[in-house]
Amino acid sequence: MFWYTGTMKNEKGSLSGSALPRRDFLKRVFAVGGLVATSRLPVLADDPAIFPKRGRYERLVLAYIHIDVGATKPFSVLHISDTHLTEAYPEEGKNKQELKRIRTQTFGGRQEEALRDSLAWAKANTDFVLHTGDLVDWMSDANMDLVKKYTGEGFFGSMGNHEFSPDMWLSKEAEGEAGKAVNAPKLKAAYPFDIRFDSKVVNGVNFVTLDDVYGTVGTDQVERFHAEVKRGLPIILCMHVPFATPAIMRADDKFWHKAGKKFETAAFPDPWGDNKRQREDAVTRDFIAYLKTEPLLKGILAGHLHITVQDRFSPTAIQYIVGGNFMFHGQEVTFA
Ligand SMILES: [Fe+2]
Repeated sequence: MFWYTGTMKNEKGSLSGSALPRRDFLKRVFAVGGLVATSRLPVLADDPAIFPKRGRYERLVLAYIHIDVGATKPFSVLHISDTHLTEAYPEEGKNKQELKRIRTQTFGGRQEEALRDSLAWAKANTDFVLHTGDLVDWMSDANMDLVKKYTGEGFFGSMGNHEFSPDMWLSKEAEGEAGKAVNAPKLKAAYPFDIRFDSKVVNGVNFVTLDDVYGTVGTDQVERFHAEVKRGLPIILCMHVPFATPAIMRADDKFWHKAGKKFETAAFPDPWGDNKRQREDAVTRDFIAYLKTEPLLKGILAGHLHITVQDRFSPTAIQYIVGGNFMFHGQEVTFA
Protein backbone atom coordinates (compact mmCIF):
# COMPACT_ATOMS: atom_id res chain seq x y z
CA MET A 1 0.00 0.00 0.00
CA PHE A 2 1.37 3.39 -0.89
CA TRP A 3 -1.51 5.77 -0.57
CA TYR A 4 -0.42 9.32 -0.14
CA THR A 5 3.20 8.62 0.26
CA GLY A 6 5.61 10.73 -1.69
CA THR A 7 4.80 8.91 -4.91
CA MET A 8 1.22 10.14 -5.08
CA LYS A 9 0.46 13.77 -5.69
CA ASN A 10 -2.40 15.90 -6.78
CA GLU A 11 -1.08 18.52 -9.13
CA LYS A 12 -4.27 20.54 -9.37
CA GLY A 13 -4.30 21.88 -5.86
CA SER A 14 -7.86 20.77 -5.22
CA LEU A 15 -6.61 18.19 -2.78
CA SER A 16 -3.39 17.88 -0.96
CA GLY A 17 -2.06 14.38 -0.86
CA SER A 18 0.71 15.17 1.53
CA ALA A 19 -1.73 16.96 3.85
CA LEU A 20 -3.78 13.83 4.29
CA PRO A 21 -1.58 11.00 5.42
CA ARG A 22 -2.28 7.41 4.55
CA ARG A 23 -3.77 6.60 7.93
CA ASP A 24 -6.45 9.28 7.46
CA PHE A 25 -7.30 7.93 4.07
CA LEU A 26 -7.59 4.45 5.51
CA LYS A 27 -9.74 5.77 8.35
CA ARG A 28 -12.11 7.54 5.97
CA VAL A 29 -12.35 5.09 3.13
CA PHE A 30 -11.52 1.73 4.57
CA ALA A 31 -13.33 2.26 7.85
CA VAL A 32 -16.24 0.70 5.96
CA GLY A 33 -15.17 -2.64 7.41
CA GLY A 34 -16.37 -1.27 10.74
CA LEU A 35 -19.57 0.01 9.18
CA VAL A 36 -20.37 -3.43 7.90
CA ALA A 37 -20.34 -4.73 11.44
CA THR A 38 -22.62 -2.05 12.87
CA SER A 39 -24.98 -1.27 10.02
CA ARG A 40 -28.52 -2.61 9.95
CA LEU A 41 -28.40 -2.91 6.16
CA PRO A 42 -28.84 -6.41 4.80
CA VAL A 43 -25.65 -8.15 3.81
CA LEU A 44 -25.90 -10.43 0.82
CA ALA A 45 -23.57 -13.10 2.17
CA ASP A 46 -25.68 -13.32 5.34
CA ASP A 47 -28.94 -13.69 3.45
CA PRO A 48 -29.84 -17.39 3.64
CA ALA A 49 -31.83 -17.12 0.43
CA ILE A 50 -28.92 -15.86 -1.68
CA PHE A 51 -25.51 -17.51 -2.08
CA PRO A 52 -25.62 -19.10 1.39
CA LYS A 53 -22.27 -20.85 1.00
CA ARG A 54 -20.40 -18.01 -0.59
CA GLY A 55 -17.37 -16.53 1.05
CA ARG A 56 -16.85 -12.95 2.09
CA TYR A 57 -15.72 -11.61 -1.28
CA GLU A 58 -17.22 -14.10 -3.68
CA ARG A 59 -20.31 -11.95 -4.08
CA LEU A 60 -18.27 -9.49 -6.13
CA VAL A 61 -18.09 -10.07 -9.87
CA LEU A 62 -14.57 -9.05 -10.77
CA ALA A 63 -12.88 -8.87 -14.16
CA TYR A 64 -9.09 -8.82 -14.33
CA ILE A 65 -6.98 -6.62 -16.57
CA HIS A 66 -3.25 -6.06 -16.75
CA ILE A 67 -1.66 -2.99 -18.31
CA ASP A 68 2.08 -2.79 -18.87
CA VAL A 69 2.40 0.90 -18.48
CA GLY A 70 5.96 1.42 -17.25
CA ALA A 71 5.15 1.93 -13.55
CA THR A 72 8.07 2.53 -11.21
CA LYS A 73 6.61 -0.21 -8.99
CA PRO A 74 3.73 -2.70 -9.61
CA PHE A 75 0.36 -1.84 -8.08
CA SER A 76 -3.34 -2.41 -8.66
CA VAL A 77 -6.55 -0.44 -8.70
CA LEU A 78 -10.16 -1.47 -8.13
CA HIS A 79 -12.15 0.19 -10.89
CA ILE A 80 -15.89 0.44 -10.20
CA SER A 81 -18.65 2.50 -11.78
CA ASP A 82 -22.41 3.02 -11.76
CA THR A 83 -23.33 2.20 -8.16
CA HIS A 84 -26.54 4.28 -8.46
CA LEU A 85 -27.25 4.99 -4.80
CA THR A 86 -30.95 5.81 -4.28
CA GLU A 87 -31.33 7.29 -0.78
CA ALA A 88 -33.47 10.22 0.37
CA TYR A 89 -34.26 11.57 3.81
CA PRO A 90 -37.99 11.58 4.74
CA GLU A 91 -38.03 15.38 4.80
CA GLU A 92 -36.62 15.74 1.29
CA GLY A 93 -40.00 16.04 -0.44
CA LYS A 94 -42.32 14.12 -2.72
CA ASN A 95 -40.06 13.79 -5.79
CA LYS A 96 -37.17 12.33 -3.85
CA GLN A 97 -39.45 9.84 -2.07
CA GLU A 98 -40.90 8.72 -5.37
CA LEU A 99 -37.46 8.37 -6.93
CA LYS A 100 -36.27 6.42 -3.90
CA ARG A 101 -39.19 4.00 -4.24
CA ILE A 102 -38.97 3.50 -8.01
CA ARG A 103 -35.22 3.61 -8.53
CA THR A 104 -34.37 1.41 -5.54
CA GLN A 105 -36.44 -1.25 -7.26
CA THR A 106 -34.66 -0.55 -10.56
CA PHE A 107 -31.22 -1.06 -9.06
CA GLY A 108 -32.10 -3.83 -6.64
CA GLY A 109 -31.72 -2.14 -3.26
CA ARG A 110 -28.26 -3.61 -2.63
CA GLN A 111 -26.24 -0.70 -4.01
CA GLU A 112 -24.83 0.57 -0.71
CA GLU A 113 -23.87 -2.93 0.24
CA ALA A 114 -22.20 -3.46 -3.15
CA LEU A 115 -20.20 -0.29 -2.59
CA ARG A 116 -19.14 -1.36 0.91
CA ASP A 117 -18.15 -4.81 -0.33
CA SER A 118 -16.15 -3.24 -3.14
CA LEU A 119 -14.33 -0.89 -0.78
CA ALA A 120 -13.62 -3.77 1.61
CA TRP A 121 -12.20 -5.72 -1.31
CA ALA A 122 -10.09 -2.78 -2.32
CA LYS A 123 -8.73 -2.43 1.21
CA ALA A 124 -7.54 -6.01 1.32
CA ASN A 125 -6.43 -6.47 -2.26
CA THR A 126 -5.59 -3.24 -4.04
CA ASP A 127 -3.97 0.13 -3.56
CA PHE A 128 -6.51 2.44 -5.11
CA VAL A 129 -10.25 2.87 -5.70
CA LEU A 130 -11.32 4.48 -8.94
CA HIS A 131 -15.02 5.23 -9.53
CA THR A 132 -16.02 6.44 -12.99
CA GLY A 133 -19.39 8.00 -12.21
CA ASP A 134 -23.06 7.45 -11.40
CA LEU A 135 -22.12 6.76 -7.80
CA VAL A 136 -25.54 8.31 -7.09
CA ASP A 137 -28.66 7.91 -9.21
CA TRP A 138 -29.84 11.50 -8.58
CA MET A 139 -29.01 14.32 -6.24
CA SER A 140 -30.37 14.23 -2.72
CA ASP A 141 -28.99 15.26 0.64
CA ALA A 142 -29.03 11.61 1.68
CA ASN A 143 -27.10 10.54 -1.42
CA MET A 144 -24.57 13.34 -0.98
CA ASP A 145 -24.12 12.28 2.66
CA LEU A 146 -23.45 8.71 1.51
CA VAL A 147 -20.86 10.02 -0.94
CA LYS A 148 -19.12 11.87 1.91
CA LYS A 149 -19.38 8.82 4.17
CA TYR A 150 -17.83 6.35 1.75
CA THR A 151 -15.33 8.45 -0.15
CA GLY A 152 -12.15 10.02 1.05
CA GLU A 153 -8.93 11.35 -0.34
CA GLY A 154 -8.05 7.95 -1.79
CA PHE A 155 -11.34 7.59 -3.63
CA PHE A 156 -10.53 9.02 -7.01
CA GLY A 157 -12.75 9.28 -10.06
CA SER A 158 -15.11 11.17 -12.28
CA MET A 159 -18.71 12.34 -12.53
CA GLY A 160 -21.51 10.45 -14.28
CA ASN A 161 -24.55 11.85 -16.03
CA HIS A 162 -26.71 10.87 -13.03
CA GLU A 163 -24.61 12.98 -10.66
CA PHE A 164 -25.98 16.07 -12.43
CA SER A 165 -29.66 15.12 -12.17
CA PRO A 166 -31.64 16.62 -9.25
CA ASP A 167 -34.97 14.87 -9.94
CA MET A 168 -34.56 12.85 -13.15
CA TRP A 169 -37.85 13.00 -15.11
CA LEU A 170 -39.85 14.45 -12.20
CA SER A 171 -38.87 18.08 -12.63
CA LYS A 172 -37.81 20.32 -15.47
CA GLU A 173 -34.06 20.50 -15.19
CA ALA A 174 -31.52 22.84 -16.69
CA GLU A 175 -29.77 20.70 -19.28
CA GLY A 176 -26.26 20.33 -20.63
CA GLU A 177 -23.49 22.62 -19.44
CA ALA A 178 -26.04 25.05 -17.89
CA GLY A 179 -27.40 22.23 -15.75
CA LYS A 180 -23.89 21.25 -14.72
CA ALA A 181 -23.17 24.80 -13.58
CA VAL A 182 -26.33 24.84 -11.40
CA ASN A 183 -25.54 21.52 -9.76
CA ALA A 184 -21.75 21.70 -9.49
CA PRO A 185 -21.51 23.40 -6.05
CA LYS A 186 -23.33 20.56 -4.24
CA LEU A 187 -21.23 17.96 -6.04
CA LYS A 188 -17.97 19.81 -5.38
CA ALA A 189 -18.84 19.85 -1.68
CA ALA A 190 -19.39 16.09 -1.59
CA TYR A 191 -16.80 14.50 -3.90
CA PRO A 192 -13.13 14.32 -2.92
CA PHE A 193 -11.74 15.21 -6.35
CA ASP A 194 -12.04 17.94 -8.97
CA ILE A 195 -15.29 17.05 -10.74
CA ARG A 196 -14.30 18.71 -14.03
CA PHE A 197 -10.78 17.38 -14.52
CA ASP A 198 -8.19 15.92 -12.19
CA SER A 199 -4.89 14.07 -12.14
CA LYS A 200 -3.09 11.83 -9.69
CA VAL A 201 0.31 10.29 -10.21
CA VAL A 202 0.77 6.84 -8.69
CA ASN A 203 4.13 5.11 -9.06
CA GLY A 204 4.94 7.10 -12.16
CA VAL A 205 1.51 6.57 -13.79
CA ASN A 206 -0.70 9.61 -14.39
CA PHE A 207 -4.41 8.91 -13.80
CA VAL A 208 -6.29 11.67 -15.57
CA THR A 209 -10.05 11.97 -14.93
CA LEU A 210 -12.53 14.15 -16.74
CA ASP A 211 -16.25 14.87 -16.92
CA ASP A 212 -17.64 13.73 -20.28
CA VAL A 213 -21.07 12.82 -18.92
CA TYR A 214 -23.00 13.86 -22.05
CA GLY A 215 -20.42 12.30 -24.35
CA THR A 216 -18.47 15.48 -25.03
CA VAL A 217 -15.45 17.33 -23.62
CA GLY A 218 -14.72 21.07 -23.43
CA THR A 219 -11.76 23.14 -24.57
CA ASP A 220 -10.76 23.73 -20.93
CA GLN A 221 -10.41 19.97 -20.44
CA VAL A 222 -8.46 19.56 -23.68
CA GLU A 223 -6.02 22.26 -22.56
CA ARG A 224 -5.60 20.65 -19.18
CA PHE A 225 -5.01 17.28 -20.83
CA HIS A 226 -2.24 18.75 -22.98
CA ALA A 227 -0.63 20.14 -19.82
CA GLU A 228 -0.68 16.62 -18.35
CA VAL A 229 0.94 15.19 -21.50
CA LYS A 230 3.79 17.70 -21.12
CA ARG A 231 4.75 15.95 -17.87
CA GLY A 232 5.85 12.99 -20.00
CA LEU A 233 4.30 10.25 -17.83
CA PRO A 234 2.20 7.33 -19.10
CA ILE A 235 -1.51 8.27 -18.87
CA ILE A 236 -4.59 6.25 -17.93
CA LEU A 237 -7.66 8.27 -18.91
CA CYS A 238 -10.69 7.71 -16.66
CA MET A 239 -14.19 8.98 -17.41
CA HIS A 240 -17.86 7.98 -17.40
CA VAL A 241 -18.97 7.77 -21.04
CA PRO A 242 -16.75 5.63 -23.29
CA PHE A 243 -15.36 7.01 -26.51
CA ALA A 244 -17.19 5.21 -29.29
CA THR A 245 -15.19 2.46 -30.93
CA PRO A 246 -16.75 -0.23 -33.14
CA ALA A 247 -16.86 -3.15 -30.70
CA ILE A 248 -18.08 -0.99 -27.83
CA MET A 249 -20.83 0.53 -29.97
CA ARG A 250 -21.88 -2.93 -31.14
CA ALA A 251 -22.05 -4.27 -27.58
CA ASP A 252 -23.91 -1.16 -26.40
CA ASP A 253 -26.39 -1.52 -29.26
CA LYS A 254 -26.84 -5.26 -28.67
CA PHE A 255 -27.49 -4.84 -24.94
CA TRP A 256 -29.53 -1.63 -24.83
CA HIS A 257 -31.20 -1.23 -28.23
CA LYS A 258 -31.69 -4.81 -29.28
CA ALA A 259 -32.76 -6.25 -25.95
CA GLY A 260 -34.98 -9.26 -26.60
CA LYS A 261 -33.55 -9.84 -30.08
CA LYS A 262 -31.00 -12.44 -31.11
CA PHE A 263 -27.75 -11.42 -32.77
CA GLU A 264 -28.29 -11.23 -36.53
CA THR A 265 -25.68 -8.93 -38.00
CA ALA A 266 -22.14 -7.86 -37.18
CA ALA A 267 -22.60 -4.58 -39.05
CA PHE A 268 -21.79 -1.61 -36.87
CA PRO A 269 -24.81 0.41 -35.82
CA ASP A 270 -25.25 4.03 -36.80
CA PRO A 271 -24.06 6.35 -34.05
CA TRP A 272 -26.72 7.62 -31.66
CA GLY A 273 -26.86 9.54 -28.37
CA ASP A 274 -23.43 10.05 -26.80
CA ASN A 275 -21.73 8.40 -29.79
CA LYS A 276 -23.43 10.79 -32.18
CA ARG A 277 -22.57 13.82 -30.07
CA GLN A 278 -18.92 12.74 -29.99
CA ARG A 279 -18.87 12.82 -33.79
CA GLU A 280 -20.82 16.04 -34.17
CA ASP A 281 -19.04 18.11 -31.53
CA ALA A 282 -15.86 19.44 -33.15
CA VAL A 283 -13.88 19.82 -29.90
CA THR A 284 -14.64 16.23 -28.87
CA ARG A 285 -14.08 14.82 -32.36
CA ASP A 286 -10.68 16.51 -32.62
CA PHE A 287 -9.72 15.46 -29.09
CA ILE A 288 -10.53 11.80 -29.82
CA ALA A 289 -8.61 11.96 -33.12
CA TYR A 290 -5.62 13.45 -31.30
CA LEU A 291 -5.81 10.87 -28.47
CA LYS A 292 -5.55 8.06 -31.00
CA THR A 293 -2.11 9.37 -31.95
CA GLU A 294 -0.88 10.13 -28.41
CA PRO A 295 1.75 7.53 -27.46
CA LEU A 296 1.58 8.39 -23.74
CA LEU A 297 -2.06 7.25 -23.58
CA LYS A 298 -1.82 3.67 -22.24
CA GLY A 299 -5.42 2.86 -21.37
CA ILE A 300 -8.95 4.19 -20.88
CA LEU A 301 -11.24 3.16 -18.00
CA ALA A 302 -14.94 4.01 -18.30
CA GLY A 303 -18.44 2.91 -17.28
CA HIS A 304 -21.97 4.10 -18.08
CA LEU A 305 -23.00 1.07 -20.16
CA HIS A 306 -23.53 -1.34 -17.22
CA ILE A 307 -21.84 -4.09 -19.24
CA THR A 308 -18.23 -5.26 -19.21
CA VAL A 309 -16.68 -4.81 -22.64
CA GLN A 310 -13.32 -3.76 -24.03
CA ASP A 311 -11.95 -2.66 -27.36
CA ARG A 312 -8.74 -1.28 -28.78
CA PHE A 313 -8.84 2.52 -28.86
CA SER A 314 -5.43 3.38 -30.29
CA PRO A 315 -2.09 1.68 -31.05
CA THR A 316 -1.07 2.17 -27.40
CA ALA A 317 -4.39 2.02 -25.51
CA ILE A 318 -7.29 -0.37 -24.96
CA GLN A 319 -10.55 1.00 -23.55
CA TYR A 320 -12.02 -1.07 -20.70
CA ILE A 321 -15.67 -0.60 -19.67
CA VAL A 322 -16.72 -2.01 -16.31
CA GLY A 323 -20.22 -3.36 -15.54
CA GLY A 324 -22.57 -1.79 -13.00
CA ASN A 325 -21.36 -1.75 -9.40
CA PHE A 326 -25.02 -1.90 -8.29
CA MET A 327 -24.78 -5.54 -9.40
CA PHE A 328 -21.50 -6.01 -7.50
CA HIS A 329 -19.34 -5.62 -10.61
CA GLY A 330 -15.82 -4.26 -10.61
CA GLN A 331 -12.51 -4.78 -12.32
CA GLU A 332 -9.10 -5.05 -10.71
CA VAL A 333 -6.51 -3.47 -12.96
CA THR A 334 -2.92 -4.43 -12.32
CA PHE A 335 -0.14 -2.10 -13.49
CA ALA A 336 3.54 -2.80 -13.99
FE1 LIG B 1 -24.32 6.74 -16.72
